[in-house]
Amino acid sequence: MINIDALNHVQGKSIYMDDREELKGTLYAVPFDFPVAHARLHQIVTDEAQNCPGIVKVLTAADIPGENQIGGIIPDEPLFAEHEVHFWGQVGGLVIGTSEHACRLARKKIRANYDPLPAVTDPRVAKSKDMLISPPRTFRCGDTAQAWSSCDHIITGRADSNGQEHLYIETQGAYAWIKEDGSVYVASSTQGPTAVQKTIAKVLGLPMHKVEIDTVRLGGGFGGKEDQATPWAVMAALAAKVTGRPVKLALHRMDDMRMTGKRHPYSTDFRIGLSKDLKILAYEATFFQNAGAAADLSPAILERTLFHCTNAYYIPNVSATAWSCKTNLPPNTAFRGFGGPQGKFAIECAIATAARVIGVKPHEIQSANLVKDGDTFPYGQIIKNAEARHSWETCTSGFGLDEVIHEVDAFNRSNFRFKKGYAVQPICFGISFTNTMMNHARALVHVYQDGSVVVSTAAVEMGQGVNTKLLQIASDIFGVDPSRVRIESTNTLRIANTSPTAASAGADLNGKALTLACEAITARFKDLLREELGWTDVIFRHGKATDRVSKNFIMWEELVLKAFQKRISLSEHAHYYTPEIFFDKTKEKGHPFAYHVYGTAIVEVTLDCLKGTYEFDRVRIVHDFGNSMNHDVDLGQVEGGLVQGIGWMTMEEIVYNDDGKLLSNALSTYKVPDIYSVPKVIEVKHLETSGPDLAIRKSKAVGEPPLMYGLGAYFALRHAVLAFNPEAEISFDAPYTPEKIFRDLYKKPVT
Ligand code: MTE
Ligand code: HPA
Ligand code: MOS
Repeated sequence: MINIDALNHVQGKSIYMDDREELKGTLYAVPFDFPVAHARLHQIVTDEAQNCPGIVKVLTAADIPGENQIGGIIPDEPLFAEHEVHFWGQVGGLVIGTSEHACRLARKKIRANYDPLPAVTDPRVAKSKDMLISPPRTFRCGDTAQAWSSCDHIITGRADSNGQEHLYIETQGAYAWIKEDGSVYVASSTQGPTAVQKTIAKVLGLPMHKVEIDTVRLGGGFGGKEDQATPWAVMAALAAKVTGRPVKLALHRMDDMRMTGKRHPYSTDFRIGLSKDLKILAYEATFFQNAGAAADLSPAILERTLFHCTNAYYIPNVSATAWSCKTNLPPNTAFRGFGGPQGKFAIECAIATAARVIGVKPHEIQSANLVKDGDTFPYGQIIKNAEARHSWETCTSGFGLDEVIHEVDAFNRSNFRFKKGYAVQPICFGISFTNTMMNHARALVHVYQDGSVVVSTAAVEMGQGVNTKLLQIASDIFGVDPSRVRIESTNTLRIANTSPTAASAGADLNGKALTLACEAITARFKDLLREELGWTDVIFRHGKATDRVSKNFIMWEELVLKAFQKRISLSEHAHYYTPEIFFDKTKEKGHPFAYHVYGTAIVEVTLDCLKGTYEFDRVRIVHDFGNSMNHDVDLGQVEGGLVQGIGWMTMEEIVYNDDGKLLSNALSTYKVPDIYSVPKVIEVKHLETSGPDLAIRKSKAVGEPPLMYGLGAYFALRHAVLAFNPEAEISFDAPYTPEKIFRDLYKKPVT
């Protein structure tokens, strides 16, 4: 089935938050902030702005009827700055007016009295000053202290990876109005409608049942709307409540880039020990996470960094500690991979360093240490159905790693200005929210008297194609044409207490709930057919219910009507929660993931050593889809994830100055991959696997894992740089931009 949104997307007919039809009297809101990263805030002067033409009201913290608090995991984040400013871009209040333009003009007239305070932007500095979001966490297995003595090689180093701007095409926004009973309706571009509902209830001082959130689709989220869609929806709701009129708030791109958090930068110290035969015996890592000025999702992201700090490798002795460091930057947040990519980057840097010191190729170390069935991850989960070796072998032999090595070496011997590089990149990513309690979802299915069907779940469509998968499930179980099924918007009145659509688990959790709901309805139909007609083996296919014994059939529409006339319920609301998973934080051990996703990529690059620029020639991937339920949708996720990962590793460079001001604050100063910078060839092979039962229809989650193939781009580039300048002492400092590559190409060896 093709993506059900494809046709409307290319025709520009798909409705996003800002495309919703506007109600009469709609007002617009624009948030304001202060040009300072850290300050004691004495007073916000709004009179002049209030008196500008078209301005209805300027809101500040004093106008909040409930709590001025939006923190999810830790209540440490005000909606509007009060007493103190913690980052450049922190919202101080809202200008509401009859046009967005009027609000933007009035915003310039806002004045504030504040005393600047020193700003900290570096996580290691923050750590040294005890500025922490939460206590550190340590994952341990074996005994590293003991293990070092049996290592033949011990290598230490440091790995830094920078943040990443989500750059969803649709910026943050919401549209809110008050209904006759004083309840509030909010159209929100969010991955987490319940989080929005709950926070609006808290800030407005309302019970949750008076807050309705509705989400049709997002123009991309990538984690950036898991938590950080909330404040804008709260502001729109607050403005609607104060003015009594509908209020729309949609951030301009530069406001969005300045005011919202990004992927967490990490700085990591590592120590790795290997035996003569390249087995990794011990690994120690200390992660310094740059959390920004409030917790947001940082503690959960920190945890996933630890879960994935050994990537696809089995290491018997591990000790990894992670510090969430509080800095004066916008609170960093979820971004595809959720801390996992940063953990994997560090171990890959350790392997690359070790390979160089020992004098072997990195892939020889990678290959010697892949996880296999029966191994245990440092967090205690015993590995089942490992596809690490399988994907590695299928990739390296199927795509001819030996030829790649040979070609690259031959090219590099005969070329001076251009050098080629390659890297093999295995991945292993755990599926489930690491917070066990979040792994649940619900689905509501109505079959109407005419046999048509409407489905609601907690899943938010953000381009990943979850609605297409849901449609496949419902139409398949009922055996009806997809045109008979409609997937409704995600709405907190129809589906309550949802987890955000995140952790790549959207299709699994909601698809399983939907399966339960549809099967509950077909079970009633089967009972009816047994009682009425004596049919004992009924299947639903091609718009009919057929008895496989007698070969008799009844049309779906006729069956539905019959059931309706017999007063049988044609609706079902079903609940699913992932079985088997658990995690004990006091021991840092458990079985947190339903299953793992594996894969291996070979990345090839050509570097122009005169200019420092590069082109990715080819990325070839063997990916473990399980038994993919939609090859095209899943292929899109692999390609998109890969390119987003390459962007993070090579060109997307977030720059704050020492005062905490974002310099890469627009698309003129922040470079994302375009059609010219994607690899010239992307080839994706399906690994033949049966897929786990906990994946929807054995089709494994695919949203986040492929981003981590992008790590290979960094190491392919490093290989090419070292081919040109074999003696250079080069650091790990992603993204590997042309400027940094240029610096390394001509770096003199340390003597
Ligand atoms: N694909 C598109 N096109 N747009 C997105 O915003 N988000 C990613 C991934 N793929 C995203 C995407 C992230 S961060 C996650 S967690 C998953 O999709 C969420 O959807 P799923 O759980 O249905 O896979
Ligand atoms: N992944 C993504 N989002 C999350 C998670 C997770 O593990 N936990 C909480 N939000
Ligand atoms: Mo995805 S980072 O879990 O929204």
